[in-house]
Amino acid sequence: MRIGIIGAGHVGGTLAQLLAKHGHEVMVANSRGPQTLHGLVDRISGEVSAGTAAEAAEFGDVVVTSVPFGRYPELPTGGLADKTVVDTTNYYPERDGHYPDLDQGSTTSSELVQAHLAGAHLVKAFNTMYWEHLRDYGRQSSAQFRYALPVSGDDDQAKRTVQDLVEQLGFEPVDTGTLADGGRRQQPGSPIYGADLSGDELRSRIRH
Ligand SMILES: NC(=O)c1ccc[n+]([C@@H]2O[C@H](COP(=O)([O-])OP(=O)(O)OC[C@H]3O[C@@H](n4cnc5c(N)ncnc54)[C@H](OP(=O)(O)O)[C@@H]3O)[C@@H](O)[C@H]2O)c1
Repeated sequence: MRIGIIGAGHVGGTLAQLLAKHGHEVMVANSRGPQTLHGLVDRISGEVSAGTAAEAAEFGDVVVTSVPFGRYPELPTGGLADKTVVDTTNYYPERDGHYPDLDQGSTTSSELVQAHLAGAHLVKAFNTMYWEHLRDYGRQSSAQFRYALPVSGDDDQAKRTVQDLVEQLGFEPVDTGTLADGGRRQQPGSPIYGADLSGDELRSRIRH
C-alpha cells in the first residue's frame, strides 16, 4: 500500500520505519521541505521517499497526520477525498495554544481535524503510545501477549483499514467507537492514554 506521512518526527518517523519494514511504499513530509529529510530516508530500509505535505497527501492510499495538533490547520486538504487519514495528534494546550471547545470538552481534537479534512475518512490511532514503545513493542501475531492500540473513527471501512495496519505492526487493535466517543476515550488524561495495556485491559478500562 502507498502511505503518505505528514509529520516526520518521533511518531511519523517511527511509523515510516515500521510501515516500510512491513512492505509498504512510504512518502514522508515535514514543514521544512523534502531536502531536510534525507537523513531519515537514508536510515530507513525499504521503499521510502520524501516529498512536500501536498505530495504526501496525493501519494498515499492512506495518509498519516503526525504534526503537533496546533499545526493541523496547515495540513493540505487536496488529494484526500475518500481516503483513509490516520490522525496521531494529541491536544496539549501548553504546546498548541488553547482551543476553548476542547477545554470545555464540547468536541474532540480529531473531530476538528476531520472538519478541516472534509471528504477524508479520519481514524484516530497510534496516538496513545509513547513513540519509543511504538517502535519497540510490536510482536508477532502468534505471540502470547500483544500490546493493544485503540482505534476510533466514523467510517467502518477506514477503521478496518487502520486496524489491519495496527495488526501488521504487531499490536492488537481495539475499536473505541466514533471520533466523538472514541476520540475522547483516547485523548490525553484518559485511563488508556500512555498506558501500555493488553486488549482485555484496554477494553475493561473503556467500559468504566
Ligand atoms: N512523542 C510521542 O511519544 C507521541 C506519541 C503519540 C502521539 N503523539 C502526537 O503525535 C504528534 C506528533 O508528535 P511527535 O512527537 O512525532 O512530534 P515531533 O517529533 O515534534 O514531530 C513533528 C513533525 O511534524 C512536522 N510538522 C509540523 N508542522 C507541519 C506542517 N504544517 N506540515 C508538515 N509537517 C509539519 C515537523 O516538521 P518540521 O520539523 O520540519 O517542522 C515534524 O516532522 C503530536 O500531535 C503528538 O502529540 C506523540
